[in-house]
Amino acid sequence: MVGFNKKTVKDVDLKGKRVLVRADYNVPVDDGKISDDYRIKQSVQTIQYIWEQYQSSIVIVSHLGRPDGKPSAEFSLKPVARRLSELLDKKVEFVESTVGAEAKQACEKLGPGQILMLENLRFDPREEKNDKQFAQELAETSGADVFVQDGFGVVHRAHASTDAITKMLPSVAGLLLEKEVTTIQKVVKEPARPLVSIVGGAKVSDKIEVLNKLIKLSDCVAVVGAMANNFLLAEGVKIGKSKVEKEALGTTHEILALAKSEEQKRNFSFLVPVDAVVSEKIGGTGPTRIVDVLGGNTSDIEAYPKIPCPRAYTVEKDELVLDIGPASAAQIAGAVKLARTVIWNGPCGITEVRGIAGAHDPFAHGTHTIVEAMIGASNKHASKPFTLVGGGDTVSYVEGERLTDDFGFVSTGGGATLELISGHKLPGVEALANKN
Ligand code: 3PG
Repeated sequence: MVGFNKKTVKDVDLKGKRVLVRADYNVPVDDGKISDDYRIKQSVQTIQYIWEQYQSSIVIVSHLGRPDGKPSAEFSLKPVARRLSELLDKKVEFVESTVGAEAKQACEKLGPGQILMLENLRFDPREEKNDKQFAQELAETSGADVFVQDGFGVVHRAHASTDAITKMLPSVAGLLLEKEVTTIQKVVKEPARPLVSIVGGAKVSDKIEVLNKLIKLSDCVAVVGAMANNFLLAEGVKIGKSKVEKEALGTTHEILALAKSEEQKRNFSFLVPVDAVVSEKIGGTGPTRIVDVLGGNTSDIEAYPKIPCPRAYTVEKDELVLDIGPASAAQIAGAVKLARTVIWNGPCGITEVRGIAGAHDPFAHGTHTIVEAMIGASNKHASKPFTLVGGGDTVSYVEGERLTDDFGFVSTGGGATLELISGHKLPGVEALANKN
């Protein structure tokens, strides 16, 4: 049985109290505009619960980006406060400092049910150093009686606002944090089988532990995205000038060896792309073709023994692999349709490039195909798998396509989700008060 053994906002009385809430508002902001507000939307439930149930005054803290301990307009949380205010349909005050006299004054002015957001925690270098003094200043500035951790995306970091602060104030979990940890742990500990895991992303080195864990746990693992290039190279496939992590080739071989040994031991399959969409240009403005990277199996029976021209199964030296091909996508989609649980982290190709006239989203077909298999009309409702989705690019894709509600659970975490799937303890959760 999976359970959440930390106290939450439902286990404490916050009536009339000042509450310091840590959220993860690390969202993409370009020129003051937020392009993906999923994390902000997901934070609403805890904040709303606290003021509806307890009429507490709420001080919210978060980080945004990696500003290296220095204040900068680029990483200000001001646009986030504005968006949160729209979502809550309630004024969210904002102050351009995190600790100190100005922030303290703004906190002191807060009445019951009022909300204030402080400026980016990472404008102070002490945040990432898990500095006790900074945590103490944060507690004093906010005047908080209780700390609520709801920034699931950042609880894999031991920082001042995830660890040190819990030594200064009674600390409990928010509702988002509870839901994230419970859902992810349940999928990992008690998955309905078959379990299919689809893992993509830019680098194998970011996914080593999670791949090792998923290979042991799943009935099928498919590698996609730029990361799959490492596996193609390790299998001796030429990949032109595609993105590859040469220094992680040794690790790639080790992961392949583990996958092959699992395939021999039990009913498990490890899917490396068999075909790829390639082009010389990343921006969708060049000719695009599909290459059968494993080669040799596309000869017409009438033409036998004539084999197709080598170009049909060779990525040329100036070409890049930018998506999985239709055969690979169909193979993964087939596995997904038989699955009862799917874990998906990382798109199959470049999903944000729009094509020239003709090819629509030329490098997004692989992703569209597996998504359709997970949630689409061709997958009968009764047999739809439970889908756990995580990772910044994946969630942005899902949000951009307005499909969030079609998935079982879309996690707000990137690294935190991977750490939890890998079986690691999360410092920001461990530090909270136990239920009994
Ligand atoms: C994330 O986006 O994964 C979290 O907000 C943590 O950010 P970080 O990787 O910069 O610590």
